[in-house]
Amino acid sequence: MIVSLHEAVNLIRAGRIVAIPTETVYGLAADAKNLSAIHKTFETKGRPPDNPFIVHISDIEQADGLAREIPEEFYSLAKTFWPGPLTLILHKKATVPDVVTGGLDTVAIRMPNHPLALKLIRQTGPLTAPSANPSGKPSPTRAVHVLYDYENAVPVLDGGPTRIGLESTVLNLTSPEPEILRPGAVTASMIEKVIDKKVHIVSVSDTASRAKSPGTRYTHYKPNAEIVLLDSVPSQFDPEGYYILHSASAEINAINVHSYPGDFSGLATDLYDHFRTADHLGYPKIYIESIPDADKHPLIQALNNRIRKAAGLD
Ligand code: TXA
Ligand code: MG
Repeated sequence: MIVSLHEAVNLIRAGRIVAIPTETVYGLAADAKNLSAIHKTFETKGRPPDNPFIVHISDIEQADGLAREIPEEFYSLAKTFWPGPLTLILHKKATVPDVVTGGLDTVAIRMPNHPLALKLIRQTGPLTAPSANPSGKPSPTRAVHVLYDYENAVPVLDGGPTRIGLESTVLNLTSPEPEILRPGAVTASMIEKVIDKKVHIVSVSDTASRAKSPGTRYTHYKPNAEIVLLDSVPSQFDPEGYYILHSASAEINAINVHSYPGDFSGLATDLYDHFRTADHLGYPKIYIESIPDADKHPLIQALNNRIRKAAGLD
């Protein structure tokens, strides 16, 4: 069911979970101090227990209650990009329950850029919130996706469609050099400009690196349809296929052909909704026009990361 902000506050305080909007994707929020609520999140999502949660805050000072040995870079980055789609990993304080961090000695923190999420957290305190999808499925980018995924059983604070549509950048600040564990709307070069240090991008196909970000070990973002990458726009469309294109002219839009000429932000906003629509309409295949890595738009790396994972390539 859809709940009001007031109801969401009361539900969280009562130890319930509530799906909340952020600027990236909807999250499944629980009080970060309430162990049984956090356990409910794992159960509801069907999430493996060693995959840690991001703690969402509404005020930079709340990081002091969660992390220790906080480096100066944290404050520069938080001041520049928060509220926003950047998650920062710090050494955790002993008071942060192991269930939040999957037993790791580090904690992931972010301040979401959504007015309803911020109003909620100001009243409840820090919230754990993984993306609200059942484990392995595409993240919800609209309230109706959450209602559908859990057959109306999870209360949802409806904040409209999420603006960015892809999950936040995850940046590890506990490694010898800062490293991106998951690409998102905040890119390595944007981060490098603020901290004046080289930022590494952890390759998901590298097994040693995978261990650093537990989430990368699992299947992600997968629709039921098979995803096929295309090198270019085909001259003929397979009526059994659902197409997501970026270089075609907008005139060919149809129920199964969606084109975003050069509009990578629009493509990112809609990507998971397309995965879901293709599944609802029963398309066995989703064809996605490959995006050259060299393309300059800041979302390209995150888009390719999600598309390749959904296609089972990474
Ligand atoms: O945009 C987002 O980040 C959304 C919204 C709701 O905020 N949340 C989200 O959470 O995507 P989730 O749980 O689906 O993805 C969090 C990722 C996972 O890959 C997890 O393994 C990683 O962050 N992560 C969390 N804590 C970590 C830690 N201490 N060390 C390394 N990776 C961590
Ligand atoms: Mg997720």
